[in-house]
Amino acid sequence: MTPASISRPLVGDPFPEGFLFGGATAANQIEGAYDVGGKGLSVQDVLPEGDQSPPTEGPTAGNLKLDAIDHFHRYREDIALFAEMGFTVYRFSIAWSRIFPRGDEEEPNEAGLDFYARVLDELERHGIEPMVTISHYETPLHLARGYGGWGSRQLIGFFERYCRVLFERFGHRVRYWLTFNEINAVLEQPFMAGAIETPLEELDQQTLYQAVHHQLVASARATRLAREVAPNAQVGCMLLAMPIYPLTPDPADVLAAQQAEQINYAFGDVHCRGYYPQYLVNRLRRDGVELEITEQDRIDLRHTVDFVSFSYYISVCETADPERRVRGEGNFLGGVPNPALAASEWGWQIDPVGLRVVLNAYWDRWQKPLFIVENGVGAVDTVVQTDEGPTVLDDDRIDFLHDHLSQARKAIADGVDLRGFAAWGCIDLVSASTAQMSKRYGFIHVDRADDGTGTMRRLRKKSFHWYREVIASHGAVIG
Ligand code: BG6
Repeated sequence: MTPASISRPLVGDPFPEGFLFGGATAANQIEGAYDVGGKGLSVQDVLPEGDQSPPTEGPTAGNLKLDAIDHFHRYREDIALFAEMGFTVYRFSIAWSRIFPRGDEEEPNEAGLDFYARVLDELERHGIEPMVTISHYETPLHLARGYGGWGSRQLIGFFERYCRVLFERFGHRVRYWLTFNEINAVLEQPFMAGAIETPLEELDQQTLYQAVHHQLVASARATRLAREVAPNAQVGCMLLAMPIYPLTPDPADVLAAQQAEQINYAFGDVHCRGYYPQYLVNRLRRDGVELEITEQDRIDLRHTVDFVSFSYYISVCETADPERRVRGEGNFLGGVPNPALAASEWGWQIDPVGLRVVLNAYWDRWQKPLFIVENGVGAVDTVVQTDEGPTVLDDDRIDFLHDHLSQARKAIADGVDLRGFAAWGCIDLVSASTAQMSKRYGFIHVDRADDGTGTMRRLRKKSFHWYREVIASHGAVIG
């Protein structure tokens, strides 16, 4: 990816030419059809309550992800709605277990590949640039139960085989590829993000960081492979971004915040620099963790990413005072709540300025083009009748997205090379953390309730029309 033009806009200018606006989803949260077309089970098929309770033996009634929003059968209608909003980019994931149902087969499942070929046909028809997440919290279940998930080095080879198939089949059609969704989340979510079934409290740091290492090597190998097989592809890492502020100006809190932040930076540092940062090496050594890193691993890691993508929902605080270190609600990596911020209905603190902080920090640190591939707010929506028919008057969602886009625009004016914005859950989907339908993010309402009832009818919310204007004006309506 070449650096952006040197003429950057000033505050108040529109977003740069070529800036992509769109939305993002993940296969396990929208497709449903969990056992159709030869698909195997993924870790999500045994998580009926997201991360709120341990995995079940097999798929159980009440797991909303099994049917999700039936995008598998309705993708044409959904993509047409994205096109109506004017999306120029759509980020979705490929379900690994549709392509390799168990994960360790030699040959891919053609029916699974065919589904994504049809999705790409549809995007091409509407002129929407696809962005594909290769692994979005949906490792095949067999790799978790038969191999111990990413704790096993063998997964690197299985992942590489899967990537090769994707690049060979779709490399000429898809420019933007993301390796692992929120790769740093494995530290808190070993099963969902790392297919490791041992609960976090019982998991030793050695196994956890070895799994991290395997994912980092797999990500780098995917980048190397893309360059060989699909030279036009751009490969990015995907981080869970969450600025960590000191809870007070006490220098001990400032240091605690910096040290907590480093744990997250480490993932981007490896992806962008091609080796482990010294602070992580020292910390692991202090904790008695001895990673098994081969010479080949070190060579592989040198294949650095073309760009950095990330999700942004919340910021948190950190303190050196154990008595005040009380963890609040939040996405997969929580922290100490910020007394200056209000929170969503699910307790996620809302901090648009934090997005500008993240953008500047990432750009200064890595000097790689950035892409916001998730942002939004989960909220309860009520369908109301209006003269134009039923809709959802989701002004809070509009305000949330407006304020975040406004900060993104200011970051661009600060000098950040930001290439695009994909709103999370552009169509209502099943929540990752709670597995609820009622935690809605979309511009498009889907008639499905937490108890699984509903017609799956799609409805344009007020935010649908607002986002269409944002895109049509290329962001000029953002203050
Ligand atoms: C991110 C994940 O952590 O946050 C998504 O990449 C997820 O899969 C999103 O859906 C929002 O979180 P939740 O738990 O509200 O769905």
